[in-house]
Amino acid sequence: MVIIYRMNIGENISLRPYNTFGIDVNARYFMDILSVDDIDSVIKAGHPEFSRLLILGFGSNILFTQDFDGLVLRIGIKGIEKVYEDTDHVGIKAYAGEKWDDLVGYCVENGYAGLENLSLIPGSTGAAPVQNIGAYGAEFGNCFKELEAIHTTTGQFRHFSKSDCAFSYRNSVFKSNLKDQYAILSVTFILNKRAEFNTSYGTIEEELKVMGVRKKNLLNVREAICRIRRSKLPDPALIGNAGSFFKNPSVSLEKYSELKKAYPNMVVFQGDENTYKISAGWLIEDCGWKGKRIGDAGVYPRQALVLVNYGHASGQNILDLASTISQSVKNRFGIDLESEVNIF
Ligand code: EPU
Repeated sequence: MVIIYRMNIGENISLRPYNTFGIDVNARYFMDILSVDDIDSVIKAGHPEFSRLLILGFGSNILFTQDFDGLVLRIGIKGIEKVYEDTDHVGIKAYAGEKWDDLVGYCVENGYAGLENLSLIPGSTGAAPVQNIGAYGAEFGNCFKELEAIHTTTGQFRHFSKSDCAFSYRNSVFKSNLKDQYAILSVTFILNKRAEFNTSYGTIEEELKVMGVRKKNLLNVREAICRIRRSKLPDPALIGNAGSFFKNPSVSLEKYSELKKAYPNMVVFQGDENTYKISAGWLIEDCGWKGKRIGDAGVYPRQALVLVNYGHASGQNILDLASTISQSVKNRFGIDLESEVNIF
């Protein structure tokens, strides 16, 4: 029995409610972090039983395949505040435990532009920078100013600028060089008071027409994005999932040309110079996986990039399905799919 005074640490806690795949594994120890002081104290206590730490947001980008024999810190620190304002811009600081979509809603309702295309992405604000969340032509890093984090072993606080974070497609320093070394505590954005809408991606314009919109504003653009997402992506409250399971792979011009000749319908996005980003959803669908189900692990029928838990799949069941899919994509197209979700 471990006793740390004034800290509310549970033992042998099921993580099922704390991951959107709904995978039932146990954490040896679990603590809800509700303030910066909470996390500061638990790290600085330096208790040997807690040397293995797992920082969890809302668990919307993680696949648990086994119990965790350490301490899970679930970051629930709340708060949104305006920290800067001039004629054209505002600085908005949000704490890590704010639900991401609540933050987007707050900004849209107050007329602050920049995050609206990232509406309805599941997860917490503190987890958003880790994989540089993105959707509908926007990425987390676009309006980002800085974040504050605490080192998980030394307890030192550190500010990260945009360049410190090294954002790239579904990646950041927190997923690479500094993986598992920091817990993100708050994030600050610079947002525009005058909106410039970015509605050229996919079917946003079509959706706005269906909605009868004549003049775009932040509210109706957000609504259009929410409608598109709801039509394609499963609600984690109803069907366990973690959004896109794989990244869209980048290939060279040479590989792209070879594939395009063999598969003229292949869906491709513009990548960086001389690289082409292939739609992983298309690759998986073309291999015949869309809508397939093995036990309770399945491929979502409306978006092949999303793996789902129909009820009682284990993390290993989902991982086995992911491996089988990757293997068939590799065999057919010679492309390696990389997981977007963190496997634990
Ligand atoms: N497509 C298919 N079959 C499918 C899915 C997609 O052919 O089963 C093709 C279609 O042509 C479709 C195109 O791919 O029009 C693009 O699909 P979508 O707009 O759904 O985008 P995506 O590339 O599959 C990415 C993100 C999503 C994000 C959407 C919209 C990644 C890994 N995923 O998916 O992000 O919502 O764009 O911007 O980049 C997430 O990261 O969890 C996530 C859901």
